[in-house]
Amino acid sequence: MKLIFEKSYPGRGSSVLPECDVPECLPDVPKRGIALELPEISENELGRHYTALAKRAHGVNDGFYPLGSCTMKHNPKINEAVAALPGFKNVHPLAPQHSIQGCLEVYHKAEKSLCAITGMDAMTMQPAAGAHGEFTGLLLIKAYHESRGDKKRTKMIIPDSAHGTNPASATMAGYQVVNIESTPEGYVDLDKLRQAVGEDTAGLMLTNPNTVGLFDKNILEITKIVHDAGGLNYYDGANLNAVMGIVRPGDMGFDVIHLNLHKTFSTPHGGGGPGSGPVGCKAHLKEFLPGICVNEIGTAYEMCRAPHTIGNVRSFYGNFLVVVKALTYILSLGREGLREAACNAVLNANYMMENLKDIYPCPFDETCMHEFVLSLEDMKRDIGVSAMDIAKALLDYGIHPPTMYFPLIVHEALMIEPTETESRETLDEVIEIFCKVYEQAAKDPESMHQMPVKAQIRRPDEVRAARKPVLRYGGGL
Ligand SMILES: Cc1ncc(COP(=O)(O)O)c(C=O)c1O
Repeated sequence: MKLIFEKSYPGRGSSVLPECDVPECLPDVPKRGIALELPEISENELGRHYTALAKRAHGVNDGFYPLGSCTMKHNPKINEAVAALPGFKNVHPLAPQHSIQGCLEVYHKAEKSLCAITGMDAMTMQPAAGAHGEFTGLLLIKAYHESRGDKKRTKMIIPDSAHGTNPASATMAGYQVVNIESTPEGYVDLDKLRQAVGEDTAGLMLTNPNTVGLFDKNILEITKIVHDAGGLNYYDGANLNAVMGIVRPGDMGFDVIHLNLHKTFSTPHGGGGPGSGPVGCKAHLKEFLPGICVNEIGTAYEMCRAPHTIGNVRSFYGNFLVVVKALTYILSLGREGLREAACNAVLNANYMMENLKDIYPCPFDETCMHEFVLSLEDMKRDIGVSAMDIAKALLDYGIHPPTMYFPLIVHEALMIEPTETESRETLDEVIEIFCKVYEQAAKDPESMHQMPVKAQIRRPDEVRAARKPVLRYGGGL
């Protein structure tokens, strides 16, 4: 397919603006010396170009999209409709407070709802994504210890089942990461945790349910061990989809959390954002929160800043329209609806796991939460077919591949999260496709290395694409 620049033809354009008939009054500032090279293309061609591009991508509106670890779920269209209301869409970040009372109310309501869902006392909407939230939450933990003159707490304990962003965020926040191995069953090893904590422990970062899709039943003991050692507990809330409306991190002993609104709370995710990773905390961390807080004073809403704020972690209010979408989702589902969504997410994952585990072994063979992990280690050893081969073969059936090779503690891993909005019929179809792919692998393992055969792009060099992306077309643009 040609790039839009290759379709450009001088003088052809979509603009019908008249010539400028007023004098230019740009101040005397450095100006571009050469014309900006923009593609010149008719509206008709432009529409076709982007439609063709869209057809080459596979999204949640095209078919099953079972990416584990990061919930990728259906985003109800009402969220978009509400976020597109002019009063939200056209608001300027520097507008005076009295003129944006409705927006401040949204902020306030979102904060209260998310606090109620998570069991936290306060929340900031400023962080722009999950990993950004992690970094922010860790800065709160740091500010807390420093405010008490406790400077020796330099270590952050992170189980080996954690999402890769956890150790990265801890390192960025200036902590030394202490990795602890999980038990063979996939849980936090309590003995190892007891050995790891000490006077230098700043905290623990944990996802529960964890990244192998299991709820750690020792959670109260885990958070107590850390608290008894003087550390704080950080909850990575990216997996909240499994437990929202059922259990609350605040009741499990966590002091600070982040949420991924762009996943759990059904705002579109992927393609580079925008996202939103609000950070919630218990009362003892509230004074350090970044950005703007909104207070309800009588019938009005007022912006304020926390007294010992760590500062801004992003400009203005964060990604406000993502917050509007998330609040729409929360209010349209209500307390019972959120709980039902979590229950269905867990039911769908268990349904698929039970139907697949006889042919694709499950390393942690117990009731899972919203996602489950398969290991193709035996298949790779016995017939040379890898997790990558199976994932690529699924493309030929119109299924987006599940997460591959994660979590790292499982060899030849495929991690599947069907989410709550897939119907029983879709799940049955997908299970049948997984079975067909398995049969082909058993019958003709060699053919699997060529898959997919129908996709437009077959086996790109993914490492090169990630490490050496070509982000500019030609030169000088
Ligand atoms: C468990 C977990 N934690 C953190 C993150 C990071 O979130 P984000 O991609 O929004 O930075 C993700 C998803 O990538 C995740 O699945």
